Amino acid sequence: MIFLNHKMNLTLDEVNNYIEALKNYKEKIIVLPTALYAKEFINSGYKVGLQNIYYEEKGMYTGEISPYQAFQLGASYVLIGHYERRSIFGENNEMVNKKIKSALKNKLKVVLCVGDNDDNNDFLTRQIKECLKDVQESVIIAYEPIYAIGTGIIPKIEDIQNKVNYIKSLTNSKVLYGGSINAHNIDELKTIKNLDGFLIGKASIDAQEVIKILEVASK
Ligand code: PGA
Repeated sequence: MIFLNHKMNLTLDEVNNYIEALKNYKEKIIVLPTALYAKEFINSGYKVGLQNIYYEEKGMYTGEISPYQAFQLGASYVLIGHYERRSIFGENNEMVNKKIKSALKNKLKVVLCVGDNDDNNDFLTRQIKECLKDVQESVIIAYEPIYAIGTGIIPKIEDIQNKVNYIKSLTNSKVLYGGSINAHNIDELKTIKNLDGFLIGKASIDAQEVIKILEVASK
């Protein structure tokens, strides 16, 4: 599973070029565009997720998008609890938990983002436990070390492997790795065992880079 997190990037023209450039790779990717362009991707036959939703279904929440609206639009996934949502927009585990429950209730598949900065698993354990409190259905977990997001730095493969194993020992979730993935390091990252896929940020904005990543990943 390869998720492409565009964050707040690409204009409408760029989106149209991107849709054209990746049309032969549609089956291999799930695109997380800005919500404004979700429909463009859906209408062109891409699998789409939103980068965030609010937990209420409707009401006086200026600027927010509900999981019900996302599902009606044709999105199948939603990213919840991304580090940027937590660090810039103040989301905590309790909010993330509410969002997860609301997304699942509205038939969206959830990618829960978690991440830490060191070998100690305490922080990660608390994140997973609190975010998944009373959640029965399975979600996908994206492990993104904080220091690896958007920095060009990736951890040692064995460190990622340990975290993947640890998350799998706590949950029955599929696990993704995210953080500074590009066409050069995907070769190494794909050797991680029991990993179910990748969440790609910066490198996903460039369709040609995505093609290179997909080609290396499928070798
Ligand atoms: P990056 O972002 O690939 O630019 O590090 C990953 C993410 O934040 O999901």
